[in-house]
Amino acid sequence: MYYPDEVIEEVRARNDIVDVISGYVKLQRKGGRYFGLCPFHSEKTGSFSVSQDKQMYYCFGCGAGGNVFSFVMEYENFTFPEAVKMLADRAGMALPEQEYSAEARRQKDLKDRVRELNRMAAGYYHRMLRTPQGERGLAYLKGRGLSDETIRHFGLGFASQYSNSLYQYLRGKGVSEELLKESGLMQVSEKQGMYDKFWNRVMFPILDVNNKVIGFGGRVMGDGKPKYLNSPETVVFDKSRNLYGLNFARTSKKRYMLVCEGYMDVISMHQAGFTNSVASLGTALTSQHAMLLKRYTDEVILTYDSDDAGVRAALRAIPMFREVGIATRVLHMEPYKDPDEFIKALGTEAFQERIDQAENSFLFEVSVLQRSYDMKDPDGKTRFFQAAAAKIAEFELEIERENYIEAVAEKYHTSFEGLRRMVANVLMQGVPTRKAPVRQRQARPEKEDGIRQSQRLLLTWITEYPGLFDTIARYIPPEDFSDELYRGVASMVYEQRRNGAVNPAQIISHFTEPEQQRAVAQLFNTEVRVENPRELEKAVRETIYKVADYAIAAKSRALDPTDMKGLQELVDAKRRLPEIRRLHISL
Ligand code: UTP
Ligand code: MN
Repeated sequence: MYYPDEVIEEVRARNDIVDVISGYVKLQRKGGRYFGLCPFHSEKTGSFSVSQDKQMYYCFGCGAGGNVFSFVMEYENFTFPEAVKMLADRAGMALPEQEYSAEARRQKDLKDRVRELNRMAAGYYHRMLRTPQGERGLAYLKGRGLSDETIRHFGLGFASQYSNSLYQYLRGKGVSEELLKESGLMQVSEKQGMYDKFWNRVMFPILDVNNKVIGFGGRVMGDGKPKYLNSPETVVFDKSRNLYGLNFARTSKKRYMLVCEGYMDVISMHQAGFTNSVASLGTALTSQHAMLLKRYTDEVILTYDSDDAGVRAALRAIPMFREVGIATRVLHMEPYKDPDEFIKALGTEAFQERIDQAENSFLFEVSVLQRSYDMKDPDGKTRFFQAAAAKIAEFELEIERENYIEAVAEKYHTSFEGLRRMVANVLMQGVPTRKAPVRQRQARPEKEDGIRQSQRLLLTWITEYPGLFDTIARYIPPEDFSDELYRGVASMVYEQRRNGAVNPAQIISHFTEPEQQRAVAQLFNTEVRVENPRELEKAVRETIYKVADYAIAAKSRALDPTDMKGLQELVDAKRRLPEIRRLHISL
């Protein structure tokens, strides 16, 4: 960080969060909080809340949250130092000089420097398109139907046929070889030393949700191999946590997202007005991608290629989305291969029609299943219905099962009653085998999520009801919190509380990555639904009990059997547990 903590804290304290956010979002006071429409996801009722006491914001819909710095960073796409600068200006505060010193620059964190380097490279590639050398690249992109506006919007570019031109350019700007190595833009060989990774390709810069360039994809302008070359993972480029096009798609006001396979598909769809489309980065979709998307939407339409690989990819993606609570539908692209080709051939309206007709993901799974049975053979047909019944039986709710029995019976021309009896038979035979392993796998994370939720509650309560601190601290030391982030925040909270009041917004300033700021904001904004103070008191007791109990269990699992002192401590802690249930809690 460039500025001393005191400076950061002064800038923060001089910018009241309600004042600042009111400049961007219309806020209404409701009790101790202000509410408005969340600027980070599309919604009709305001779940975006700002607390003047805590000097924090938090969206109960999408989980966006943080202090005044995080807000400005997220809204304006600023880096942390940029946000500090803007808010200092706003408060009429002069920042200390050393910001500009060479020393400070050297300390600038590696991630920032790599992102800056990527930005320079993207600019270089982009300008190259308009030079005589880049003519071929521009012609290629135009030949694929991209407008000047689209090329500019996505910052597309060209890497020349010389294998060291970016290297020369960046070295000329004073970039060290060491930093170049970190960027993933170069290759090193013993013979040639360092040279460009990308050459003679059209370039697709990859931006994160904050519009920072984190990597590149480069395509050959013809049939060479590999068709696309991608940046390797670097300190800023994590393929499983980023999606191409999400920086634009996140602000689209559509309630669903279109997920496709390729860079060109995203670009074509955006050009055609489908600005809610994203693609994974030359890798299969991961559950982290699903979680990332869950922040912005509850529904995904898969627009994967129509070939076998696309179908397989869809079958893998559907359960991942289901797990995070995203409903999926599948768009049929036939007879075209991918969205780019479809839109080029049939246009925007036809594509919108296919979106409207996209198939429910369960029925899609059943239709794939059906392909492996011979429906002309009576036995084959029976076996297919049996398999379909087994799948339907996996649904938890009777009403869901009924709805799918009806849909499947109608689609494959069989009787509702017949299929219903098959499903009933499956259910009578016990839990369907395919579901059991899924359940087991889920058991642990669910429990952990529950505990983390309880731990968050404790930190929120300590902040909101200072009187609870002593009781909570007596049973739960900071090291009982689950992971590094939680433990770190807990020790800061405990320390601040021992010296006075908790200052959540200041704690958030210790974290400069938006992901972490979000997670910390969540720690201070966890709530339970209770009807009255009495119930809340009960919830406090139960939560302390639960967290303490879990910590004891975790410690005893990790205990070295020869550690007598540790064992004694655990026994004592366990003996004290029932006290918690009798605690007198008063808010
Ligand atoms: P596709 O082969 O479907 O290409 O790869 P595409 O997107 O239709 O590209 P065009 O239309 O031929 O230009 C889908 C995605 O898989 C990754 C890329 O991210 C690509 O967009 N990919 C593909 C690679 O990373 N490397 C490859 O060699 C091929
Ligand atoms: Mn394509």
